[in-house]
Amino acid sequence: MKIIKLLLCKRSETSIVLFTIIIILLPGFLHAQTNWNIPKEAAELKNPLANNTTGLKDAKVLYTTNCVPCHGAKGKGDGAAASALNPKPSDHSSERVQKETDGELFWEISEGHNPMPEYKGALTETQRWELVNYIRTLTKTPKKQ
Ligand code: HEC
Repeated sequence: MKIIKLLLCKRSETSIVLFTIIIILLPGFLHAQTNWNIPKEAAELKNPLANNTTGLKDAKVLYTTNCVPCHGAKGKGDGAAASALNPKPSDHSSERVQKETDGELFWEISEGHNPMPEYKGALTETQRWELVNYIRTLTKTPKKQ
């Protein structure tokens, strides 16, 4: 009987520990998906420049001037300003970012998310779609459409 009691007790301790770990880790897991609150229509927006590579050269210049200080030359999130930022700049070459739709990336660039600035005022729609296409070149992972 003593052993059973001990086991039960240990079990509930274990579940309390597990529960606490889950509670602590949950916000981290949800972070990437939820905190941008991208509207469904925005995520489903079709890229008017899909498969159009003519703007890539311009986009590289735009990216170098506007994005590299935070996101780094290869988009890995390791730009000069990155270490001072919280949250850290996203890694554009990562599978997580590449799995986002063109509409989601366009919305994120347009709206920003502190400390990332919004670009809907500073860059035209065409420039922002060109940047989406440029981000696609930063990896070989196939995109979700
Ligand atoms: C001041 C630094 C800064 C600059 C400049 C900046 N970003 Fe960001 N960017 C960030 C940070 C920080 C995040 C992550 C924000 C978060 O997770 O809340 C981010 C996130 C993103 C995301 C979302 C990816 C994801 O995590 O799903 C995209 C897309 C993006 N940036 C594109 C760009 C582009 C394109 C430019 C240039 C036009 C740019 N950013 C310029 C700091 C910056």
